[in-house]
Amino acid sequence: MTSIDIPQTIDALTLEEKASLVVGSSFWTTASVDRLGVPSLLLTDGPHGLRKQATEADQLGIGTSAPATCFPTAATLGSTWDPDLVRRVGAAIGAEAVAEGIAVVLGPGINIKRSPLCGRNFEYLSEDPHVSGELGAALTQGIQSRGVGASVKHYAANNQEADRLRVSADVDERTLREIYLRAFETVVTHAAPWTVMCSYNRINGERASQSPWLLTEVLRDEWGFDGLVVSDWGAVADRIAALAAGLDLEMPGIDQRSAAQIVDAVGSGQLDEAVLDQSVERVLQLAQRSHRTGTPPTVELAAHHALAREAAAAGAVLLSNDPVGGTPLLPLSLDSRIGVIGEFARTPRYQGSGSSQVIPTKLDDALTALGEALEAPVPFAAGFSVAGTTDGDDEALRSEAVALAQAVDTVILFLGLPGTTESEGFDRTHLHLPANQLAILEAVSAVNPRIVVVLANGSVVDMPWRNAAPAILETWLAGQAGGSAIADLLLGRQSPGGRLAETIPLRLTDNPSFGNFPGELGHVRYGEGILVGYRWYDARQLDVAFPFGHGLTYTTFSYGPVTAQVTGAGSDVSVIVRASVTNTGDRPGKEVIQVYVGDPQSTVLRPLRELRAFTAVNLDPGQTHELEWRLDARDFSYWHPAEHRWILETGEFHIEVGASSRDLRGTAIVNLEGEQVRPQLTKESTYAEWNAHPVGGPLLRAAIAGAIESQITPSVAAMLDDLPARLLPMMLPAFTADQLDRLLNRVADSF
Ligand code: BGC
Repeated sequence: MTSIDIPQTIDALTLEEKASLVVGSSFWTTASVDRLGVPSLLLTDGPHGLRKQATEADQLGIGTSAPATCFPTAATLGSTWDPDLVRRVGAAIGAEAVAEGIAVVLGPGINIKRSPLCGRNFEYLSEDPHVSGELGAALTQGIQSRGVGASVKHYAANNQEADRLRVSADVDERTLREIYLRAFETVVTHAAPWTVMCSYNRINGERASQSPWLLTEVLRDEWGFDGLVVSDWGAVADRIAALAAGLDLEMPGIDQRSAAQIVDAVGSGQLDEAVLDQSVERVLQLAQRSHRTGTPPTVELAAHHALAREAAAAGAVLLSNDPVGGTPLLPLSLDSRIGVIGEFARTPRYQGSGSSQVIPTKLDDALTALGEALEAPVPFAAGFSVAGTTDGDDEALRSEAVALAQAVDTVILFLGLPGTTESEGFDRTHLHLPANQLAILEAVSAVNPRIVVVLANGSVVDMPWRNAAPAILETWLAGQAGGSAIADLLLGRQSPGGRLAETIPLRLTDNPSFGNFPGELGHVRYGEGILVGYRWYDARQLDVAFPFGHGLTYTTFSYGPVTAQVTGAGSDVSVIVRASVTNTGDRPGKEVIQVYVGDPQSTVLRPLRELRAFTAVNLDPGQTHELEWRLDARDFSYWHPAEHRWILETGEFHIEVGASSRDLRGTAIVNLEGEQVRPQLTKESTYAEWNAHPVGGPLLRAAIAGAIESQITPSVAAMLDDLPARLLPMMLPAFTADQLDRLLNRVADSF
């Protein structure tokens, strides 16, 4: 902690100095006030490694930066489902940040993967808010454990790159609360990030950077955030409105116009100086938190590389591993002659483009790593050019690859998306692998059916070809040690540890956002509401290529019975869920046990199941692990759009435990005591709403019994259901408006 006395410093600062502190002083730094000992703070991208720019400055990853460990991207880290490992990665990034004199790392990115097309999905963790929240919290805790701030971004509803600087995400409050804000809530309440970065986009027409609801009411008043809100780079359009909404620090500082505007606004009385003081206080608090003395510890780059390798293996998802001639292709049998095809084996695709682009300290490629492990060069054919050059070149590369495939027992085929197709700043338009890569797969599979496809892509690709390869290993963008991790996995020195944190659909048109992505005329309508990712595919009973939560490894697991024990009621309810898992194979391996909750009796639409807990365990052959989770009221509640609060409804809930969202191994059913949701009755309430009401229903039925019995046919009954009560006298002349008034008074008296 620095010795800044915050109240005294605020008193001593001039108005101009205060204004200068809430606007960056350069692309990456805040202003200092030397006479009062207020230091300048350095903020640096994130999220999977550092991009510290010494001389150049840009937010698109164009210029160079100091080398740093390039850990696996969030797409791979999200697939680990392993908060402890992710926390260690965060701590390593934090340690490198300390050595570089960085105050805040601009990450993690926890936006929900609404569409697989989003160009920046590789920077985000999951389509599910629970996975995003838990792993986002772990990254934040890891970074901050070294005395460096995290910046959780991009708050909020920034789920696409197209038009990201101004598009309005038109999304209802329940969907925001249950899906798009939930991960932020988890990180803020569990990991206390030092900073939150607001997004560029608008939400329902209002800029995130100028939304008092988002930046103050929800973030601070409801969730108790006590850190600093920083803008995304250039997200502030109106500095005064942003300050008033709760945006403390505008970045970058490329001119000082904002500071001058603040001085004028305070001078003219447009802005209360107390509002400015509050943001200044938060900047000073950040300075205090990030103050360090002494020589920073030396960074163990070799250890960080080893950690990057461990994390890459832990996040690689073995999608399929079908037996060929009775035996799965993976792990590779050492007496099988293997051939490697695909440029990505030699030139790895290991991170995405844009502000997160890291200059790695070292870069492993799978071809070299395999050769080193096998102590002999592995035959290789490039097969295709990544840029997709002329047909002539591809033709020659293809012939060479086919010849290699014919000469070996097993082909390891490296496919993936070229770096130019997925990046910050734009979205993809389809889910296909490039045509020249699909052509190679077709040509090779015609001569050798023993194919292992190793994929490198930051977001989902479709796989109509998946039956052509008995084994598919999805590595996402696995960071600088991805190549050696892949060799470890192929050779069985490590077991694939990843599970899908996003569904792989059969086709783009099945995706919930299809038709509403990326929007038009400055608006994107979140028409699928809460049915994001697997919530949608389950509700629609759609087949998928590989479901959320899926991932194989080199052993098998069996599950014991699931039990659930309820104590308490209402907001104090607690449900202890227990299950056990046993490694039934003959190799050690990791299983991720997932707990889903469903509410089959809800009065509002709810997803069939929603992930509420998970645990990753590593087990030796024959080993059993007893699992226990504690679920609370929030895990069973929904956000009531009219009441604007979380509601736990009385009734039956299903708790399913399994190995994926579609591989459920046991269910416990519990009855919980919460609320009976009854809308307040008015004249506008429908006949059906009156009927369902515990007080109003019997009263209304008694009052109109004589009046309607003879007139009610089934179709009249169906019509009545939707009729506002004020129109009942018109439909049922024997029931008068005065009677309705009397009923309303009696209902009011009964509460
Ligand atoms: C990105 C942020 C990044 C910032 C600084 C923006 O364009 O959206 O994620 O932290 O630039 O590079």
